[in-house]
Amino acid sequence: MNNKPIFHITGESGWINDPNGLVKFKGQYHIFFQHHPYSNEWGPMHWGHVVSDDLIHFKYLPIALTPGDEFDKDGCFSGTALVQGDTLYLAYTGYIFNDDPEKIRQIQCLASSKDGIHFKKHGVIIDETLLPKKYKANDFRDPKLFYQDGTYYILVMARKAIGNGSILLFKSKDLKKWEFVNDVLTHDSEGRMLECVDYQKDLGLLLYCEQDYPPEKDRCLNLSSCEYEVGEFDKNFKFISKEGKKLVDYGFDFYAPQIIEDGHYLIAWMDMWARNNPSTKYGFAGMLTVPRKVTVENGIMLQKPVIFGDLVESKEIQNTYSGHLSVGTLHLEIDSLKSLSIILRKGDDEVTKFYLLDDYFYFDRGLSGEQIDGLEKDPLSAAGIRKMPYRKQQKDDIYIVLDKYSIEIFVNGISMSNTVFPKESSDIFEINVESNATHVTLYK
Ligand code: FRU
Repeated sequence: MNNKPIFHITGESGWINDPNGLVKFKGQYHIFFQHHPYSNEWGPMHWGHVVSDDLIHFKYLPIALTPGDEFDKDGCFSGTALVQGDTLYLAYTGYIFNDDPEKIRQIQCLASSKDGIHFKKHGVIIDETLLPKKYKANDFRDPKLFYQDGTYYILVMARKAIGNGSILLFKSKDLKKWEFVNDVLTHDSEGRMLECVDYQKDLGLLLYCEQDYPPEKDRCLNLSSCEYEVGEFDKNFKFISKEGKKLVDYGFDFYAPQIIEDGHYLIAWMDMWARNNPSTKYGFAGMLTVPRKVTVENGIMLQKPVIFGDLVESKEIQNTYSGHLSVGTLHLEIDSLKSLSIILRKGDDEVTKFYLLDDYFYFDRGLSGEQIDGLEKDPLSAAGIRKMPYRKQQKDDIYIVLDKYSIEIFVNGISMSNTVFPKESSDIFEINVESNATHVTLYK
């Protein structure tokens, strides 16, 4: 059955994971993603490709990168884009399986395009010959390419032979000849390996994902978690973090975020590794989050979603407000919040809950519809619950973004992203709020 999300990016066919190469080029936003077009399972990775003028409507373009050359024989893994003059460059990882995990090779490669549609591969730029011996050549991936003060730089994730993940910096004057600089982190990672680095100089943000992060109380319960640090590189290219690492998103389904430098829009994969995927029966396997405008205030990264839909209603409400909504956005502006409880996607035997309790917001998909199971076995995950801290403000600003199979919630810029698989008919919402004043705006 083909019944895909309305405004979230999925593959035209088959499987997708990480967003790649997010960039604005010649006036259009380009969004690439890890893609296996021939099945609903992860497989030899291609780079799928969509473009957009407004980050709301997306158009598929032909697949940008197809594996099969000797340097990317078994996959074109994640990477980033950089515009220089009239050229769009893609840096990505060529994956060679070699039939044995120890013999796997992950090699950094370059491709380019003048029209943003057809890409020419330039082959290997950084391989194990540039990798210091203490890192493993079989876990070396996800290049972040950027240009600063007349030099090209690439950050690449690597794993120590003894130890965990690192973020390595390489530099080049011409994109061809590269040299190793150093490991930019001042601490070891807690995840077995790090993945998908992003760096935004003007926001002072370093983002990365920690693979197989050991669960940390109820803060990092997903198998792997995405963190950010606010800070800057010192003169030796060590990233000096102001306050250490913080979680990018508190939901069940969020991985591999990347930011479009032009405008600072963040997009992530709205899923998690090693979970069942109920979406395949609706004609897709994996989707990306809604784009979110990112700012940094007082050392905290804040996200605000792009609004999909037309304004339907905008009014002050008393304690309760209800209606029907399965695709659209609810925006609540609440003055002096005392209590809040919201019911979403309610039907005969289904309900999704979101509520404030003791300075935490809870999201409960335990009765949201089809069961989603993963490797997370702690009590909150088993009950279908995620929680996030309440960043209290005098006037709270809450966005709830619904598409057919997802609910993304933003409270004063802190986000939680979740997939849900209720029946289409489960579309009732109910807001119960105690405050001085609450204004609701509904877009559908
Ligand atoms: C992260 C990741 C990347 C890799 C890609 C492969 O989700 O594992 O490290 O490049 O997916 O699809």
